[in-house]
Amino acid sequence: MKRIAILASGTGSNALKIIEHLRDNEQIEVALVASNRKSAKVLDMAANHGITNRVITRFDFYESDTFLSELKEAEIDWIILAGFLWLVPTNLISTYSNRIINIHPALLPTYGGKGMYGMSVHKAVKENSEIISGMTIHLVNENYDEGVIVFQGRTDIVPNDTVEDIAAKVLKLEHEYYPMVVEGLVMAQI
Ligand code: GAR
Repeated sequence: MKRIAILASGTGSNALKIIEHLRDNEQIEVALVASNRKSAKVLDMAANHGITNRVITRFDFYESDTFLSELKEAEIDWIILAGFLWLVPTNLISTYSNRIINIHPALLPTYGGKGMYGMSVHKAVKENSEIISGMTIHLVNENYDEGVIVFQGRTDIVPNDTVEDIAAKVLKLEHEYYPMVVEGLVMAQI
C-alpha cells in the first residue's frame, strides 16, 4: 500500500478527481489533504470524503521540519500538488526525491515560473494569440515549474476563445489525465 498526500491552495477540483479515481485502487490511499489557505474549498471536500486534512503554516512548511515530520509520521510515500501555490522547500524535495508531482496549466517550459499560475497563465497565452495550449505534469524540484516533464496534454485554441474558455479547456485535460498519470507513477514504484 502506498500513501499519498495532496497539497492544494484552492478549489481542489483536481484533488477531487484524484480522490475519486483512486477510490477503486486498493494499493494507493489518499491519506492526507493539506492546504496553505484556511478557507480553501479543498479542505471541506477532503473532510466530506473522510480524509485527514489540515492547514499548513509558513512556520510548519518553511521555518521548521514540522510538516515533514507529519508526513513521515503519517507514512506518506508521495506528494501530489494540485493547484498548490507555495514553492516546495528543500527538506521536502530531498526527502521525497522524484516523488513529488505537480500539474501546471500550460505547456512548460513556456508560461511557467514564479507568478505564472491559474488565470495569469491563460491570460498570457491569450495575449500571445497562441493556437495551442495544454497542461504539464512534472516532477518537482526546488524551482517553480522546472522538474522533469512526465506528461503533457494539448488542446487547440481558436481566436474566439476567451481566457475563461482556454482555462476550461485546459482544466478538462487536467481532470482527464492527472488521476491516471498519478496512479501510473505511483504504481510503477510499488
Ligand atoms: C489547476 O489548473 C492547476 O493546473 C493550477 O491551478 C489550478 C487548480 O485548480 N496550478 C497552477 O497554476 C500551479 N502553478 P483546482 O484547485 O480546481 O484543481
